[in-house]
Amino acid sequence: MTGVPAGGAVIRSAYLASEGLEDVLGEELRRAGVAVEEWHGRLALSYDPPVASAWALDVWTDAREIAVPSVKAAADALRAMQRNWGAYGVAHHRRMALIGERLPPVKARALVFPQAAPSGHLGAWTLLAPDRMLASPTKTSPFVNGECRFVEDRAGPPSRAYLKLWEACTLLGEHPVAGQACLDLGASPGGWTWAIAQLGASVVAVDRAPLEPRVAAMPGVSFRQGSAFAVVPEPADWVFSDVIAYPGPLLEMVRRWVESGLAGRIVCTIKFQGETDHDAAAAFAAIPGGRVMHLFHNKHELTFAWRRAD
Ligand SMILES: C[S@@+](CC[C@H](N)C(=O)[O-])C[C@H]1O[C@@H](n2cnc3c(N)ncnc32)[C@H](O)[C@@H]1O
Repeated sequence: MTGVPAGGAVIRSAYLASEGLEDVLGEELRRAGVAVEEWHGRLALSYDPPVASAWALDVWTDAREIAVPSVKAAADALRAMQRNWGAYGVAHHRRMALIGERLPPVKARALVFPQAAPSGHLGAWTLLAPDRMLASPTKTSPFVNGECRFVEDRAGPPSRAYLKLWEACTLLGEHPVAGQACLDLGASPGGWTWAIAQLGASVVAVDRAPLEPRVAAMPGVSFRQGSAFAVVPEPADWVFSDVIAYPGPLLEMVRRWVESGLAGRIVCTIKFQGETDHDAAAAFAAIPGGRVMHLFHNKHELTFAWRRAD
């Protein structure tokens, strides 16, 4: 391979953190036995092979360093591998722009939910130095730099939290549909409930605080005032939870729903206050049929998604 130091270790994987969550990702990687050699902006570079990461917005799973003596050489090297590339720029912006101009354009248009995520094969690249490129023809996110952007609805929903539900459903490749029964735990003021009702599904919203009246009045929406933790599992195609809770009790609640066999799918925000509870995150990830991911629209939180094996 061009540009690789003879006999030296090479970068094999890279992990992109959300802004401000570099330390959290670094700790997750440390626990997974991955040594981060260097940070390039929010991108953690490692000589180790790639591992699954909940906190990474995107994992560059086939990263390789390439010597690029010229702009043309860089563009040629990328085009020789495949068509579609998304750039992650930290420095050398002018040079990166010149390289980008020589590549086929990649449309990164905001999605109109429930439009599907892009299905085209997409790689990622950056310049570590003016003459040193890091490129990965494969990566875990179908979006450039893991940024799942939507055409937002600024009038309908009472909070921007609905973007998390939209993103989770987009990544899962499915969403509630008409005729399905959903529960929304910790629903107020009603952003998620609004998004579910918009899809034509029926939704029972549970919260100690009331829903915004215009959401409560939407067709298919009903409201139960009370604690999400007191809800006894009942048949539901989807159980959503954005409830503010410590990860421990939330894990117990999710396990109850999973073990009941009554939920078809679960989508649940795991929120962290102060320190990140990596053990709890790992316990969620260990639930068979589940996965834990950090969404572009998540703050210091993860999203757990689970599907019953039917
Ligand atoms: C982040 S907000 C939910 C936002 C909502 N998903 C939306 O889209 O508008 C968290 C909610 O959890 C509720 N909550 C906290 N503890 C609860 C509990 N034990 N039972 C039910 N709701 C609870 C709060 O009242 C708050 O409305």
